[in-house]
Amino acid sequence: MSAKLIKGTEIREQILEEITSEVAEIKEKHGVVPGLVTILVGENPASISYVTLKIKTAHRVGFKEIQDTQSETISEEDLLALIDKYNKDESINGILVQLPLPKHVDDKKVLNAIDPDKDVDGFHPVNVGRLMIGGDEVKFPPCTPAGIQEMIVRAGVETKGAEVVVVGRSNIVGKPIANMMLQKGPGANATVTIVHTGTKDLAAHCQRADILIVAAGVPDLVKPEWIKPGACVIDVGVNRVGEKISEKTGKKIAILKGDVDFDAAKEIAGSITPVPGGVGPMTITMLMLNTLKSLKFKLGIA
Ligand code: GUN
Repeated sequence: MSAKLIKGTEIREQILEEITSEVAEIKEKHGVVPGLVTILVGENPASISYVTLKIKTAHRVGFKEIQDTQSETISEEDLLALIDKYNKDESINGILVQLPLPKHVDDKKVLNAIDPDKDVDGFHPVNVGRLMIGGDEVKFPPCTPAGIQEMIVRAGVETKGAEVVVVGRSNIVGKPIANMMLQKGPGANATVTIVHTGTKDLAAHCQRADILIVAAGVPDLVKPEWIKPGACVIDVGVNRVGEKISEKTGKKIAILKGDVDFDAAKEIAGSITPVPGGVGPMTITMLMLNTLKSLKFKLGIA
């Protein structure tokens, strides 16, 4: 059997189209568009490329977008004052501070300074708490887990009563996606197990999974014999395992591998996400959706 591919690149296009038309509608009815500011500190090349893509996508869907780039040497105090400025700015609905931050800045302090109602990353403790409570309390689910859930739903995979096994317990992916999948409601209502480096028999747990979500950061960790035939496999891993010359641009690019042995797994799984082109494109897409939601909450139309 060859698994159905769940392509993040295709789902991204559908969602961005949906966002674009909703933004146009809100603009016509209410005379406003969502505003997103990304704050970039320093010149980390990976951060520059993520932020550039976030801003480009925000522009594409019709948002007001601001890229606020600050020097590596900005003081914590000045960074907090900058966040305060955007907290008070009525035209801004989403504030994102790109991580990592320089060592002299306390990133917890910075993230906690963002108004929870503009925290479109969903990293503020208030939003982590809202996610834990679930239901109507949830405002901004963190973007990667939200993207994973959206992919599962759009792929038509049944989640109610499903055995979901999450590999990895990070605050950004493992813990929130496990929490989201166990809530009551559509796209969830599953029985969830989290496995991690302290788990005794990883394979045995994975073999029970109707939906296997892997966010471990270890290339090819999940072997084909760990996969239940017909399971939905979501691979969140993006591991750089080398470099190659791009056929398109002639430039050096990273060779990426997921946490799942894809070539073997696709013969057993019912559906599977590729790497690259799977979960990756969903994160920025969900950031756009959270920013749109933020404006809708403000307008009372969410
Ligand atoms: N750095 C890498 N990924 C992310 C993300 O999703 N949000 C922020 N704020 N920083 C990041």
